[in-house]
Amino acid sequence: VARPRVLSGIQPTADSFHLGNYLGAIRNWVTMQDTHDAFYCVVDLHAITAGHDPAVLRQRTRLAAAQLLAAGLDPERCTLFVQSQVPEHSQLAWVLSCITGFGEASRMTQFKDKSSRQGAERASVGLFTYPILQAADILLYQADAVPVGEDQRQHLELTRDLAQRFNGLFGTTFTVPEPYIIRDTAKITDLQDPTAKMSKSASSPAGIIDLLDDPARSAKKIRSAVTDTGREIIFDPETKPGIANLLTIYSALAGRSIDDLVGAYAGKGYGDLKKDLSAVVADAVRPIQERTRAYLEDPAQLDKLLALGAEKARAVAAATLRTTYERVGF
Ligand code: ADP
Ligand code: NA
Repeated sequence: VARPRVLSGIQPTADSFHLGNYLGAIRNWVTMQDTHDAFYCVVDLHAITAGHDPAVLRQRTRLAAAQLLAAGLDPERCTLFVQSQVPEHSQLAWVLSCITGFGEASRMTQFKDKSSRQGAERASVGLFTYPILQAADILLYQADAVPVGEDQRQHLELTRDLAQRFNGLFGTTFTVPEPYIIRDTAKITDLQDPTAKMSKSASSPAGIIDLLDDPARSAKKIRSAVTDTGREIIFDPETKPGIANLLTIYSALAGRSIDDLVGAYAGKGYGDLKKDLSAVVADAVRPIQERTRAYLEDPAQLDKLLALGAEKARAVAAATLRTTYERVGF
């Protein structure tokens, strides 16, 4: 039997991915290469909704692709591509936008959050229609499943509604994707505010460990991580969210259970945990950093891999768009 197809995207909106991205998404993408027919996309179209610098975007798109490859995405076992290199994404998004209700789009809570931060008048129409482009990303590939965190559930629901609506109006064209809830996904929190998620848009630099941080930098952030005034190293996200976060990162990177770690640190202090965690982080990111550097040093090879990925993606996307256009009457 064919493996279920999965589609997932990540924005190139920072120079480095952070440990939350790695442990919450990228590492699962690597695993899913062997269980799914996986399409992974650096969503640069999504990265221009709130103002950007062209040279920075171009550099971040390459950095994102290099880090994904370095983290273990293998172009032989998945399809890795850059969204803007597959024009069908924008083309399908237009068609879908014409069957999306204005009220329906207005109910997307992420737009409300993000636009209220920018000032609603200044927010772009692209930020408003972002979930429709996201629906196009997914439906173009006839994805059976989409890995989603809590914050993306509403957008996937819209995608499903649009697929069903289009199929009802014009004849069955799109697979209606199911949410794929990844079990055992680590939720990483901000080192400075351990009740909030580690996030490139919300956290301060000191709250984030970047995949590309050198060992001194990540060690400094871990040393300064906010903990509580107690001394005991136990896993209690409610009363000790800072220590729980450090244990979560340790456990996920070292492949040791939380219970094992709590046992091993009985009677030891926060300083011991932080020192050891710094070494664990450094060891885990070192090979990824080395491979990232190697990909960046050979831009021609990186471009070639991405061009091949775009070609593979386009073969699927173009077929879907052709059917869609035909059904619509073009
Ligand atoms: P950010 O919040 O930094 O902007 P994104 O929203 O671009 O990150 O998320 C990219 C991927 O990384 C998503 O799949 C998201 O679920 C995952 N992710 C982001 N932050 C975390 C985190 N702190 N813990 C676990 N997973 C995360
Ligand atoms: Na985000």
